[in-house]
Amino acid sequence: MYPPPAEFASRAHVGSLEAYGELYRRAAEHPEEFWAEMAAREVHWFEQWNHAFEWHPPFVKWFVGAKTNASYNCLDRHLAGRGSKPAIIFEGEPGDERIWTYRELHGHVCRFANVLKSRGYKAGDRAIIYMPMVPEAVVAMLACARLGITHSVVFGGFSAEALKARIQDLDAHLVLTADGGWRRGREVRLKEAADEALADCPGVRDVIVLKRTGGTVEMKQGRDLWWHELEAGAEAECPAEPLDSEHPLFVLYTSGTTGKPKGILHTTGGYLTYVTCTMKWVFDLKEEDVFWCTADIGWVTGHSYLVYGPLSAGATCVMYEGAPDHPGWDRWWGIVERHRVTNFYTSPTAIRALIKQGEELPARHDLSSLRLLGTVGEPINPAAWEWYHRVIGKGRCPIVDTWWQTETGGILIAPMPGAVPLKPGSGTLPMPGIEAEVVDFHGKPAPPNTEGFLVIKRPWPSMLRTIWGDPQRYEQQYFSRIPGIYFTGDAARRDEDGYFWILGRVDDVMNVSGHRLSTMEVESVLVRHPAVAEAAVVGKPHEITGQAVCCFITLKQGFEPGDGLAKDLRQWVAHEIGAFARPEEIRFAETLPKTRSGKIMRRLLREIVTSRTVTGDVTTLEDLGVVARLAAQEDED
Ligand code: WT7
Repeated sequence: MYPPPAEFASRAHVGSLEAYGELYRRAAEHPEEFWAEMAAREVHWFEQWNHAFEWHPPFVKWFVGAKTNASYNCLDRHLAGRGSKPAIIFEGEPGDERIWTYRELHGHVCRFANVLKSRGYKAGDRAIIYMPMVPEAVVAMLACARLGITHSVVFGGFSAEALKARIQDLDAHLVLTADGGWRRGREVRLKEAADEALADCPGVRDVIVLKRTGGTVEMKQGRDLWWHELEAGAEAECPAEPLDSEHPLFVLYTSGTTGKPKGILHTTGGYLTYVTCTMKWVFDLKEEDVFWCTADIGWVTGHSYLVYGPLSAGATCVMYEGAPDHPGWDRWWGIVERHRVTNFYTSPTAIRALIKQGEELPARHDLSSLRLLGTVGEPINPAAWEWYHRVIGKGRCPIVDTWWQTETGGILIAPMPGAVPLKPGSGTLPMPGIEAEVVDFHGKPAPPNTEGFLVIKRPWPSMLRTIWGDPQRYEQQYFSRIPGIYFTGDAARRDEDGYFWILGRVDDVMNVSGHRLSTMEVESVLVRHPAVAEAAVVGKPHEITGQAVCCFITLKQGFEPGDGLAKDLRQWVAHEIGAFARPEEIRFAETLPKTRSGKIMRRLLREIVTSRTVTGDVTTLEDLGVVARLAAQEDED
């Protein structure tokens, strides 16, 4: 156990276990009052609510009847006191740097919002943002939010296919993109991918293109417009639209258990309240802090803890465009040193990759500005935790291991660093108002140290509201296993101190480098390849990325297994979904193990890639021999 350092606790927003317990108790006993108080304190409202929340399972509304605006909360309300405070400290991969104060960011957002307005966009419209990690991506998000245009950011690593599916599902008429971005010294050609996607998206009227890399792009007459040309002619004042608290702020697509990604909908007032609260509770944000979350804005972590949370809380945020190993593996430590970063938030995968590079790289940099470290996205193994604590935090910095999901909008389980003693590998205790529990199949609480399903028993302000266009899937996915209770899809156990230990997914979802990926999604891509008859995909334990994609393939008549074809298939998945989904391993099989009803037995395949031996019940198998052959193949490798 690592108790909070006394010096840290004495200055923390929540400085003792008792203070945490008191907050937790108040939120549990009087949720309406508690959240009304938090909302009034942390967010600016143009009009007050009638009720803190209305819960008609599985649907919830927060701060019903109130009006607010996320862009106003992230910008305008800071102008008086923080106008000349840096809002964004940006470093591009080639080494270019920009520092924008709150006043400057406000100016850019207003001008760009006026651009959107002049093109006829307004509250209720939808925009796709497919951009590199540059400050204009934040401008795009906040300009949309300012007018009530619901945005959906698509991670720049996603392929044209993935982009197309999202544009179509959202029926977006507006796409904001760039010529490209920099990654490991190479240009990621975003506009090119967008053009490929847009060939099948006749509904898109405007494509606004930021010039970032200066690479050549084709501009389609009557559809494509240059960002800088439009912005140059725009007015610098644009009032934020007072929007309903439940106005859709953004949709973010995430993998589910089928081939089709789910559009997770987040709304405005509750989301802002919750992410702003957690900036203090989890990150203990102080006025003078320099906050750096390394996540891309294309993931929920980037939304909540690079944009909306920190900016709403008035923080100075660091934003970095490129790869952690460019030009060398100490790039991040150089950034920490140059900008005096105080709070640093990253993924266990990144930490494990950095561990491999040795201790001497961080030792070359002055990391003494750091006071708090965080992790997110996957369980962290205690060895990686200890390294992070000792080598990066010099034994001084608490580590907040934050458990949450795209659906939860904000961090639900994490230590309050001035209050809660840490145990490496545990997310520790839930936030106030979060009634997390580990239950069995029937929803009964599991005894201490017993594995079960992680559920959340009451709604919280930043909870997803629905799946875009598919309320039935929303109910079925999250509220049907145990009626009326939010089902996270994670297995967990609680120890004798009530600490949560997350054990991984209970469904067919993989977690690769802290990014969620559905086995079915990869399978459905593979079977579209001309050589593939059948595919079964499982996550395989991986030293750095936590899990890696492992594919079992049967081929159509006339195709032969081989290294060339394996390479082709890897490339195919990368092309169809994105490079981050590229399979680690392709294994050819004569047949796949199936139940008598024809379902692929992924459990068996998982066991093969995990333990090399197969145990448990295999009597429902169609072909027992196949399992033995696959297991044997492993030994030959
Ligand atoms: C899944 C959510 C939340 C932002 C990044 C991922 C896993 C997340 C932790 C953690 C153990 C974690 C869970 C969860 N996960 N954080 N601290 N410890 N597991 O968002 O893509 O929506 O994935 O990531 O399995 O369900 P996401």
